[in-house]
Amino acid sequence: MKFIITAGPTREFIDPFRFISNPSSGKMGYALARAAVGRGQEVILISGPVELPPIPGAVLVPVISALDMREAVNSHFPYADAVIMSAAVADYRPEDKFLHKLKKGGAEISLQLVRNPDILEELGQKKGDTILVGFSAETENIIDNTLKKLKSKNLDLIIANDISAPGSGFAGDTNQVIVFDRRGMADQWPMMSKDNLADRIIKWTMDYSEFHV
Ligand code: C5P
Repeated sequence: MKFIITAGPTREFIDPFRFISNPSSGKMGYALARAAVGRGQEVILISGPVELPPIPGAVLVPVISALDMREAVNSHFPYADAVIMSAAVADYRPEDKFLHKLKKGGAEISLQLVRNPDILEELGQKKGDTILVGFSAETENIIDNTLKKLKSKNLDLIIANDISAPGSGFAGDTNQVIVFDRRGMADQWPMMSKDNLADRIIKWTMDYSEFHV
């Protein structure tokens, strides 16, 4: 199968030296890419800025902003059997980027932010047979919010992560998740390393492709 896997944060620049971002390490996406290559699959790894070495056997497409990531994902989408969006895409970007470094001035400045496109939701609208897998990082109402995303983004699988729980979340090496399939059927997976979780997600996707598509 051909997988598109996204990883890491995006950076939304305010001026040439400052940006809005988040602490995503990219570990989950890179683990997914490693697991898919390990199972003999083709992988395009579309990655925001991270401190991780490339994955041998995966094609690395580095991107910076959400708009860059969207362009890269869309250009590979027609050839993909599955897209796994594990990137922590910034929901907002500054409306204007200042061309020069902002200077200290008065006590306050305000920044106008505009919505970034939801890359996964856009894919959901043109999905066809391509398998779409998303992540849901929540601190409250995890199940409700995750089920809403599963539906609104038209996903085949969503992996819900309680990012406030110990041993789960952005920068660590382990995750405890509940997954929901297309029908909304839930399955709680035990606490495991990101590598084991990644392999389980890749295996799920390959099995699903064989039996459902
Ligand atoms: O709606 P929410 O941001 O919580 O959804 C998370 C899922 O949607 C993740 O799989 C993430 O990669 C994807 N996403 C996206 N484009 C955005 C925001 C999130 O593809 N602008």
